[in-house]
Amino acid sequence: MASITIRQLDEALKKKLRLRAARNGRSMEDEVRTLLREAADEIGGEIPQKAARPGKAASAPRRAPIPAAEGDRRVLLIVGGGIAAYKSLDLVRRLKERDIFVRCILTKAAQEFITPLSAGTITGERVFTDLFDPAHEFDVGHIRLARECDLIVVAPATADLMAKLAGGRADDLATAALLATSATVLLAPAMNPHMWSNKATQRNFAQLAADGFEFVGPNEGEMAEANERGVGRMAEPLEIAAVAERLLAPQTLALAGKHVLVTSGPTHEPIDPVRYIANRSSGKQGNAIALAAAQAGAHVTLISGPVNLLDPAGASVIKVETAREMLKAVERALPADVAIFAAAVADWRVANAGAQKIKKKAGQATPELPLVENPDILATIAKRKSQRPKLVIGFAAETENVVANAKAKLASKGCDWILANDVSPKTGIMGGDRNTITLVTATASENWPTQSKEGVARMLVERIAKEMARND
Ligand code: CTP
Repeated sequence: MASITIRQLDEALKKKLRLRAARNGRSMEDEVRTLLREAADEIGGEIPQKAARPGKAASAPRRAPIPAAEGDRRVLLIVGGGIAAYKSLDLVRRLKERDIFVRCILTKAAQEFITPLSAGTITGERVFTDLFDPAHEFDVGHIRLARECDLIVVAPATADLMAKLAGGRADDLATAALLATSATVLLAPAMNPHMWSNKATQRNFAQLAADGFEFVGPNEGEMAEANERGVGRMAEPLEIAAVAERLLAPQTLALAGKHVLVTSGPTHEPIDPVRYIANRSSGKQGNAIALAAAQAGAHVTLISGPVNLLDPAGASVIKVETAREMLKAVERALPADVAIFAAAVADWRVANAGAQKIKKKAGQATPELPLVENPDILATIAKRKSQRPKLVIGFAAETENVVANAKAKLASKGCDWILANDVSPKTGIMGGDRNTITLVTATASENWPTQSKEGVARMLVERIAKEMARND
């Protein structure tokens, strides 16, 4: 008997079939069966067996899933075990509305909240649950699941899943697929605010961000538990779908071939060998910029003051302590196409830092610490006659009159752009995970939405890429 596979059909027909199947909530294979049965009914033939309904996919006899049509954007959605799992079903809808092919893995814990049947009904595809399922390992397996996708979305990403991922564990189908993939992974964390702010979770979050995992949320709001609110709500399905779509857009490596220099973190200015002057900068924003630029294909030199962060993947990192060391390292790293000065450089240092520890002496006056001004690294580089990077970008950390002060800084320092932010304690920006930026150029100022520091970094890199393309 002649056989024909969906793969052999022409692209236009496959697309029509896929849309029809999605509309009817069936897999493509079931859709073809239905069409054939209808055609056979019309001509009076007999069809011995009814095609399985899509909802049966999870429990029906196992068969290989239908591959997405060529050119399809493919998401592997991993649903973790949290109350937000019910939102993942809506996320599937949102992704399919965007014409994205979705396959689903449910962790064991996720099945306490939603069933393979409901996920299978909505995806129209077989749902995967078990690493040691001989049927599925034989025909698909975690390696194929990991490879046959362009993006993995983990929603909800529980504290446990994040911990396993950060530790490189692979003791179930979800974590094995995550370890085996080379696709981008987007995590949508969801958990109780105390679990989110727990040091272990924050450590895992930092590790995963440094490893290049993408994040959306968590957002602030009401928790499932009565009278609880805080940061920990999973981002809304529409928000996750929008980020997924952006990550699925063809990567053009917009900064390939460019050298991007970034300063980051605080500087420590010694008073004596054991004491120093410092500030509250965490270095998170500068590190995120270095990571985003590296992900856009740039050769990145990150010159960082003392921070408690992991080095961003793909950047060459030079560690310094003082403002003067930072300036030297920046000058040594030139030439660069773009320089971004995100460091919170100490404006002053102690004039004569003692070589020995200053001792308390009974009855003596407290020590006087005369200060001298540190070099202004941004202004020094922006005003260079030779080897001035084409685009010099500074930050303005302000506690009042943010835009007016940023404009004045732009002029006095001679840079091209200033990213102004309000660092007064009420904003929680200094040391926090989110940032609200106003981009100030010589001719305009533009308010960016409050977003994660990673979001700011990506937005900045996109703007830089556009500017570089305009000038090339
Ligand atoms: N900067 C620098 N070297 C310094 C001081 C600041 O490179 N010695 C850079 C910062 O990295 C930032 C910009 O200059 O990109 C503005 O830093 P900010 O602290 O906001 O301003 P200051 O110049 O220090 O001025 P002030 O503290 O008076 O606001």
